[in-house]
Amino acid sequence: MGALDGQVAVITGASSGIGAATARLFAAEGAALALLDLKPVAGELLGLGTDTGHVTGHVVDVTDAAAVERVMAEVVERHGRIDVLVSAAGILDEVPFLEMTPERFDRTIAVDLRGVFLAARYAAPYMVEAGRGRIINIASQLGIKGGTGLAHYVAAKAGVIGLTKALALELAPKGVLVNAIAPGPIVTPLIDGLSEEWKRSKAAELPLGRFGRPEEVAPTALLLAGSPGGDIYVGQTLGPNSGDVMP
Ligand SMILES: NC(=O)c1ccc[n+]([C@@H]2O[C@H](COP(=O)([O-])OP(=O)(O)OC[C@H]3O[C@@H](n4cnc5c(N)ncnc54)[C@H](O)[C@@H]3O)[C@@H](O)[C@H]2O)c1
Repeated sequence: MGALDGQVAVITGASSGIGAATARLFAAEGAALALLDLKPVAGELLGLGTDTGHVTGHVVDVTDAAAVERVMAEVVERHGRIDVLVSAAGILDEVPFLEMTPERFDRTIAVDLRGVFLAARYAAPYMVEAGRGRIINIASQLGIKGGTGLAHYVAAKAGVIGLTKALALELAPKGVLVNAIAPGPIVTPLIDGLSEEWKRSKAAELPLGRFGRPEEVAPTALLLAGSPGGDIYVGQTLGPNSGDVMP
């Protein structure tokens, strides 16, 4: 028996990295999945369906409010309900603060913060109606410790942590538990653009001496989504981060 047998999970950013690893783990634990991404979800992920849960793919831009609202309604139409939302869609680019244009700042805030708001905003009503649900927002340790050349990303991720606490307070009495995960550096396409030199020196400063893998983050999402492990987490930010941050 899987930990998520019979549950329906929506995962944004599901085509790659942490979102895709979470999809694989949740499917192995029996969940039905609605996989959302800007890029079409690969056939390998669509083939994760099991006896207890089938998988649907949805191309959507998480910054588009009307599209996110529509896709959540479509998920409920196809799967019957939404038990779990994992918001993993995100972008990262590096630019010194003194060269950062307002447009570049706005773009990162739109995807990394507003996108998390929109997914929760349009998934939560179905959870509240059912009297139960889990929302898991993927933040970043950088939202806690800061980082150079990443003011837009750091602001967005700190915003996700704050948003998570606010939603947690409002929604816990309605049976919906909201938490965040703030990973450390994880080997995914997101960090492809960072230099090898930066990666080497960053790995050397980690107590664990290495970056994490997406498969090492997904089990934290499973903990928060599952029961009884996730039943008393409210507004928390868990840190699978190789020891980089110890709040
Ligand atoms: N990789 C890391 O080191 C790391 C560390 C901490 C936090 N995170 C966070 O984890 C989350 C997942 O990142 P990842 O490392 O798996 O990256 P990734 O690039 O492998 O995956 C991100 C996915 O989000 C999708 N996406 C981007 N913009 C979108 C949009 N507007 N609408 C819908 N989908 C969109 C992309 O197409 C991609 O499939 C992100 O929020 C990221 O900020 C990553």
